[in-house]
Amino acid sequence: MKESAGPRTKGPKPRRSSRAAPSRPSVTVSYAQTLDGRIATVGGSSQWISSPDSLRFAHEMRARHDAVLIGAGTACRDNPRLTVRNVPGDDPLRVIVDSTLRTPPDSAVFADGAAAGTVVLATGRAPEERRKRLRDLGVRVFEVPADGDGRVDLAPALARLLELEVATVMVEGGACLITSLLKGRLADRLAVCIAPKILGCGIEAVGELGIRDLDRSVALSDVSFERYGPDLILCGDLRYCDDREV
Ligand SMILES: NC(=O)c1ccc[n+]([C@@H]2O[C@H](COP(=O)([O-])OP(=O)(O)OC[C@H]3O[C@@H](n4cnc5c(N)ncnc54)[C@H](OP(=O)(O)O)[C@@H]3O)[C@@H](O)[C@H]2O)c1
Repeated sequence: MKESAGPRTKGPKPRRSSRAAPSRPSVTVSYAQTLDGRIATVGGSSQWISSPDSLRFAHEMRARHDAVLIGAGTACRDNPRLTVRNVPGDDPLRVIVDSTLRTPPDSAVFADGAAAGTVVLATGRAPEERRKRLRDLGVRVFEVPADGDGRVDLAPALARLLELEVATVMVEGGACLITSLLKGRLADRLAVCIAPKILGCGIEAVGELGIRDLDRSVALSDVSFERYGPDLILCGDLRYCDDREV
């Protein structure tokens, strides 16, 4: 568990849970979007929506969290390293939710000694030979229960991370994982980089949440804004409708 909030940098500090005995880590969702709410082109390209200044912000955030979490879609499409490079600070634990272990073993999150600092949360659908291949690299592979769609059930997955002494998690996408966390009310904070660009069609940051009434939208409180180069970074605490007066 990171003792402090990391290096003295700008950007939001992760908040540890205020509950006496939290059942999961505190979760901050972070992504970069265009003005029209796209996190990638129709073809899935997202590097880079944000400016180099905002990439520094993302690395500051990584340094401040115990773990950084992505979905298998992002692991396969973007092949990120998830390390802290543009600012001083320690690398977070890297975590992927990957039901069937489809992330290629030669991915950057497993390369150059990174495997030992990487956790993959899979379901019972993950074939044994894939588990073995990753474990042989040094990756910690944990089986967690599946949700109704056969994917990683995120509540027990986060509880598993708490057992690993992860108190704060930064989620770096993509859209499916962000949507599942919001749907499950498992995200506590949002840090969105808004780049002054318009893409038109593309991948939306957030998918279907089943909200039909504006009063029931997920809201933000304690909102702050910061400029990073040409981009605007908006941070706030997520408020789900049943937790507040609508
Ligand atoms: N602009 C940005 O900030 C940013 C950041 C990240 C990604 N992106 C873009 O987003 C795109 C990838 O997004 P994506 O939606 O395809 O992938 P994703 O959200 O990264 O990963 C989704 C996959 O994670 C696995 N998963 C396991 N349990 C899950 C659960 N409970 N809920 C959701 N997913 C679960 C599923 O694969 P299995 O069923 O195989 O387990 C699912 O298909 C790429 O184009 C990438 O470039 C943009």
